[in-house]
Amino acid sequence: MIQEERIIEHTLKHGIKRIGIMTGGGDCPGLNAVIRAVVLMADKYGVEVIGIPYGYRGMLLGGDYFHKITKSDVLGIIEQGGTILHSSNKDNLFKYPRRDQNGLQHDADGNLIYDDFSSVAVENLRKADIDAMVIVGGDGTLTSGRDYSRMGVPVIGVPKTIDNDLRSTDVTFGFDTAVSRCVAAVESVRTTGEAHSRVMFIEVMGRNAGHIALNTAISGGADMVLIPEIPYDPQKMVAQLRKCLVNHGDAIVIVSEGVKAPDKNSYTAKIVEGSPDAIRFGGVSGAIADYVEKALNSTRDEHGYAINEVLMDVECRATNVGYAQRGGVPTANDRLLSTRFGAHAVHALMEEFNPDEKGNFGRMVAMREGHLTTVSLEQVIASNSMIGNQRRVDPNGELVQLARNIQISFGD
Ligand code: F6P
Repeated sequence: MIQEERIIEHTLKHGIKRIGIMTGGGDCPGLNAVIRAVVLMADKYGVEVIGIPYGYRGMLLGGDYFHKITKSDVLGIIEQGGTILHSSNKDNLFKYPRRDQNGLQHDADGNLIYDDFSSVAVENLRKADIDAMVIVGGDGTLTSGRDYSRMGVPVIGVPKTIDNDLRSTDVTFGFDTAVSRCVAAVESVRTTGEAHSRVMFIEVMGRNAGHIALNTAISGGADMVLIPEIPYDPQKMVAQLRKCLVNHGDAIVIVSEGVKAPDKNSYTAKIVEGSPDAIRFGGVSGAIADYVEKALNSTRDEHGYAINEVLMDVECRATNVGYAQRGGVPTANDRLLSTRFGAHAVHALMEEFNPDEKGNFGRMVAMREGHLTTVSLEQVIASNSMIGNQRRVDPNGELVQLARNIQISFGD
């Protein structure tokens, strides 16, 4: 048992014999492939792996919730979605909402009351003889990862999110699967849209970043894509869709969940009280579809036709790909990337371990220009605001230009 000293000091003296692993934030296809790669690579080094379930909540629970993961536990999980360790995107132990029988507790002004349980979590790691932690997560999870590292926990982060919006890495696993699912949804929706000569809106995830939407629009051959980084003009959007209907009788529009509704009162995002990133999107495409339908039907020719004698009235429909893009079997590309990331995390812990440089911990595995590397978590999470740490679509970037060149409209 590690005695009364900080984990990092113990690790610097004795090396790494046991690592902990946890998955935090929204789940993402490829998490199990990372866990598998960590366990197999650790086994190669003769290092034990302890699974910490339920994200940071598990770190707070400690004790018997921590359990050894062996090679046999990871047999056949490479193709499984979700995470065998479960996850949570609400448990920031540095700022943990207090609860009682009525739910979350508020002060007299209605503000949430928070506790800081981070040192309890660190003590639980110390009691379990964990020498270093592999923390698999997105910006929220890695912010805490950085903060545990500042408290003296040797940490290596693994970047995860279907949104592909993490700074300091060119790509995160889960993104390829999410885009593939969204493109499959476009293919299904297109045929019914064509059959009924409708404008079909397909909403995809991504929070404040439009990477999933943009990649889906290009790969799915959409007519229009709406992303948070390029504000659309409602009138221009409607005019452009009218052109599509005149030219080919239907239209496909990909909507990133983080875009604004044309009429502010027609859509409100959900707020998850007590969550570090409280806004949850989902549903804006319905409000946009209703607006477009009304606008397209509001101008008619002398026969009363909105577009022509076939398209007398325009109909718009919205489909939200939703959680179907986040769960289920990961693509081969995501399995490969997850395996590379997981194995490199252990490699970095073991090979870059250098007692003279305080172990060289507090880093995140990253892919840069096709090469695996590690980046300091201080650099990954440099901003105090969540959005400041996100990599968003570059409105002047190559993919936006490509989309415009192949005549995908941004409604701007
Ligand atoms: O960040 C990943 C993500 O899937 C976003 O694309 C989405 O907005 C959000 O998580 C949904 O979170 P939750 O699982 O809390 O609904």
